[in-house]
Amino acid sequence: MIGFDLTQEQRVLQERARKFSKEVILPVAAKHDREGTFPLDVMEKAHQEGFFTPLVPKKYGGQGLGVVDNCIISEELSAGCMGMYVSIFVSTLALYPIIKFGTEEQRERFLRPFCSKFSIASYCLSEVTVGSDPASMRTTAILDGDHYLLNGTKMWITNGGYADFYLVFATTNPEKKHKGIISFIVPSNSEGIRHGEPIDKMGQRASNTTTVIFKNVRVPRENLLAGEGEGFKKAMAALDITRPMIAVGSVGIARTALELATQYAKKRIQFGVPIAQHQAVQFMLADMAKDIEAARLLVWKAAWLADRGIRNSKEAAMAKAFAADVAMQVTSNAVQIYGGMGYTKWHPVEKLMRDAKVIQIYEGTAQIMRLVIARQLLQETERTLFKM
Ligand code: CAA
Repeated sequence: MIGFDLTQEQRVLQERARKFSKEVILPVAAKHDREGTFPLDVMEKAHQEGFFTPLVPKKYGGQGLGVVDNCIISEELSAGCMGMYVSIFVSTLALYPIIKFGTEEQRERFLRPFCSKFSIASYCLSEVTVGSDPASMRTTAILDGDHYLLNGTKMWITNGGYADFYLVFATTNPEKKHKGIISFIVPSNSEGIRHGEPIDKMGQRASNTTTVIFKNVRVPRENLLAGEGEGFKKAMAALDITRPMIAVGSVGIARTALELATQYAKKRIQFGVPIAQHQAVQFMLADMAKDIEAARLLVWKAAWLADRGIRNSKEAAMAKAFAADVAMQVTSNAVQIYGGMGYTKWHPVEKLMRDAKVIQIYEGTAQIMRLVIARQLLQETERTLFKM
């Protein structure tokens, strides 16, 4: 059976997230974008609403929701401001490996306090020279008795300046490539950690992005989440679950761009009629609407597979690649429909276009997503109609 109806509970979640987006996020989105400041008060309210802990099981104080449920919430939050949404989302990115791979003791120690008081988490995978190719990371973790000694610099760290703990990936030996990578939970008050200034970005300027520097940080062995030979695979498996949640952010941005462009096209008069009556503009709006719909369906399918525990690497990559490209195209077309006005800071569509760009870059670039899709495609054999 295939169905697209939301359950009553999902409608309630959607409505609650939409209200939050409209009343809490949207009124301050332009200000934080302009100033490049992090809205800590919005984050605290989002935490109170449970938006930081959607996937954490109820027994630790979380919401106990699924990936589809979370995508429904996330579309609403990102429609208000993608920068704020990504800051909320990254906590889920850091918490998910603990939920999925942590021991019972680790879950109690990290998830419960995170849920009970306002906290922020961060995910430290990338480095200055290591983006698409995390297997070649340089940050090292050397076992020293009952501690690991952590050294290195992580780059592009969302929430870097505000996290209560970091989920860190490091290598025990760079020559082992992906097989040497381990991951652990590092409280941000550990001695030897500092973070850089917020990076001055093109878009998603309400999110806090910094470097995080680890110098001889002693991480207790009991904080280890994934040992040698496992760390990389678990990072990849976690990204399969979280990529639909970033992809749906693209849907949120694109939806807002379409909404604004449609309203503007109905008002703006050229050649004596609203430009919405010109077929050239109608076709642009139609393409925007159809692509947003298709992106949402790809996201829901990838999320649905994740909820069923079915490996979704290909579908998650499809959703992320397609939705990010849609967000870029749709926001660019929204600027086009606004004409000269769209190219100014007087209207919100230029922000949406800037916010969209990085979705083609982070959480796996547009090119890496295609690589993941192609690799799986080339392995699939059973559905062939023709034998060569
Ligand atoms: N699930 C489980 N295991 C997986 C897997 C998955 N999805 N993908 C790969 N693996 C396993 C492989 O089976 C392989 O196992 P064996 O050693 O047993 O053979 C092992 O992992 C190594 O796999 P590959 O050979 O495919 O590894 P690779 O080095 O060629 O890299 C890649 C593959 C897909 C390019 C990967 O490196 C990748 O996804 N890169 C992008 C990194 C990324 O997304 N960074 C995002 C940072 S977070 C972020 O951006 C957050 C934010 O701010 C919003």
